[in-house]
Amino acid sequence: MKLPIYLYGHPVLRKISQDITPEYPGLKELLENMYETMYSSDGVGLAAPQIGRNDRIVVIDASPLAEAFPELEGVKLTLINPRLEVLDGQEETRGEGCLSLPGLSENVKRVEHIRLTWVDENFQPHDEEFSGFLARIIQHEYDHLEGKVYIDHISPIRKQLIRAKLNNIVTGKIRCDYPVRYAPRKK
Ligand code: NI
Repeated sequence: MKLPIYLYGHPVLRKISQDITPEYPGLKELLENMYETMYSSDGVGLAAPQIGRNDRIVVIDASPLAEAFPELEGVKLTLINPRLEVLDGQEETRGEGCLSLPGLSENVKRVEHIRLTWVDENFQPHDEEFSGFLARIIQHEYDHLEGKVYIDHISPIRKQLIRAKLNNIVTGKIRCDYPVRYAPRKK
């Protein structure tokens, strides 16, 4: 089942998400729905806050980017309760977009090397190092679990330049070809 994507301005995107337990109700079905939602909206990653749940769950399938980044072929990750550690300060700037900010793309500076610990859908523990564009995707999705979005990393000047576009997302004055949930209207 396709789930609506919560858009920038919605408070659910600003809360810190909580760890889940193996007793989490309907996890298998939720993960299936998250993958379906991500694929049908042409995303390569989706975090649970984006479908309205402040739970530490992320799905990633980076295969669509394999043409530009061959190492991403077949990379599919289900990250539950992830913890991220920055391995060194080496940074790179590249363009990013987000399903919660339709129609926008901005350059974001991120670190190149990270270490991630998480459990998979069977609650088996993993501990791996990531680099390059996959490390970037993971950092982007991890931000969502921490109540952040990628434009939090851009300069105040740049943010000022896209203010009108951001306001249009917040106030629902955009068209989107996947189902979305706008921020509640301010009274
Ligand atoms: Ni995103």
